[in-house]
Amino acid sequence: MNYPVRNQQSFTVTTPLYYVNDVPHIGHAYTTMAADTIARWQRLQHRNVLLITGTDEHGQKIERTAIAAGVDPQVHCDRIVARFDSLWSKLNIQYDRFSRTTAPNHQIIVKEFFQRVWDRGDIYQGTQQGWYCVSCEEFKEERDLLADHHCPLHPSKQVEWRDESNYFFRLSKYQQQLEALYTECPDFILPNSRRNEVLKFVAQGLQDFSISRINVDWGIPLPTDPQQTIYVWFDALLGYMTALLDPDVEPSLENALQQRWPINLHLIGKDILRFHAIYWPAMLMSAGLPIPDRVFAHGYFTKDGKKISKSEGNAIDPIDLVDRYGAEPLRYYFLKGIEFGQDGDFNETRFVEIVNADLANNLGNLVNRTLNMAKKYCQGRVPNCNAEDISADNPLKILGQKLGTQVSVAYNNLAFKEACESIITLAHSSNKYIDDLAPWALFKQDKHAELAEVLYSALESARLAAYLLAPIIPKISTDIYRQLGLEIDFDLIGSNNISKLNADASEPPGDWDRHLEWGILKANHLLGEPHPIFAKLEPPISVSI
Ligand code: ME8
Ligand code: MG
Repeated sequence: MNYPVRNQQSFTVTTPLYYVNDVPHIGHAYTTMAADTIARWQRLQHRNVLLITGTDEHGQKIERTAIAAGVDPQVHCDRIVARFDSLWSKLNIQYDRFSRTTAPNHQIIVKEFFQRVWDRGDIYQGTQQGWYCVSCEEFKEERDLLADHHCPLHPSKQVEWRDESNYFFRLSKYQQQLEALYTECPDFILPNSRRNEVLKFVAQGLQDFSISRINVDWGIPLPTDPQQTIYVWFDALLGYMTALLDPDVEPSLENALQQRWPINLHLIGKDILRFHAIYWPAMLMSAGLPIPDRVFAHGYFTKDGKKISKSEGNAIDPIDLVDRYGAEPLRYYFLKGIEFGQDGDFNETRFVEIVNADLANNLGNLVNRTLNMAKKYCQGRVPNCNAEDISADNPLKILGQKLGTQVSVAYNNLAFKEACESIITLAHSSNKYIDDLAPWALFKQDKHAELAEVLYSALESARLAAYLLAPIIPKISTDIYRQLGLEIDFDLIGSNNISKLNADASEPPGDWDRHLEWGILKANHLLGEPHPIFAKLEPPISVSI
């Protein structure tokens, strides 16, 4: 098989393929909002992006849930998938592929992949004994368990003893190759703390793992022994490959890998790091396939300092949150309020405070007051000056000229909090600059040149802030652009929408990547009608008993 050199202009990013044992929760929404932001950022850079999300539908956990609910497993999966899909549309997630492991195409990919690994001699029959956590779908070491054989990741669930004949994958054979991968590609696992965790684990010596189950019917039958089904993790990771199949091509491994393999970025939570950073590359090595560029494992968050769990009764329903607050405040808060990569905490009062401070008091205020002054003092137009007329020591020009690069670096490093902070600093400085220079007084004193400089630099800073925030809050950014008389709909910027955008746009044709620079607004450009961009959120009503 021939693997073409990947087109540098393409970018493929994945979320985990989520379990459908239950409706989506806020953790799923978190990873997916981050992935969508990365995808949107890459689209702004004219990259041809594929955002892959989807669901992991096989295995004992799902089988048991469906049985308990008294429905056929496929019916159960279809119902839950609809819930995920509706959440993604509420959160304005622009995914390109939704990979389901129960899709017929996927079976074909899994069987072909299994055969390659089998032909390599990397699968053998053996006996598996050990403690199994059905919620993790993973064997656990006795030393890692809590008291009374409870799983550390699912403290309300007891692990189960297993002693069965299974097929094993020779993970141990890839110990050295994996270690070489981690050394040669130091960015393969990020952040660094996670990389160190993996290095330490691998250094203890890797053991083969079983890739089949004997008493689980809800799975893909093993091609070489249909009495068994393929272990849900071996099956699910391959869902990333299935996702690459174009809808109209014949499903085969070769066709799946033709365009975009290897994937640029797997975005996951820290709970599933070993599968992505150890098992997955080893499986690919065995199949003779290139390894993805990067696995980024973000942290876990708690609610009000406590682990989020149904049994604790503190689960957060993402649909309820979107219905109460709207998608954009949530997207903003999760990316600004929690350092990506670290553990964080969700607190509704803090959420409301951050969003009101940044989007209403800071950015919203800047846009509104600046546009109203332009309306009053400049007939609703950009003042009669261009970027080059603004003095080199103008504080907003100085900040603005550095900002595009700073924020690009931050987005490329998935440092969303830092990106937001730099952008909000520009908005804050702009408000301060307006307060200090008091354009209303300049107007009264007929200081037209000074007034023009203040208004131009404030308008331009508002524009740049909106542009740079577009991957996170595309609708607010589009609204700001419209008020600035710039017809770019940030929801339409995508590999599939570029031509549509160019056809519709009356203002800057397809050169929105230049908008990263400070100084795009042109003298006397007609502005739109000002109106508030964001209504302050009401703080949550605290219930005291
Ligand atoms: O593991 N904080 O699916 P899953 C942050 N099917 N992120 C969280 C979170 C929390 N409290 N809880 C969940 C699986 N997540 C497998 C994946 S991939 C081929 C197969 C997010 O439904 C985070 O991204 O248990 C985590 O990795 C993922 O949900 C686990 O989802
Ligand atoms: Mg899980």
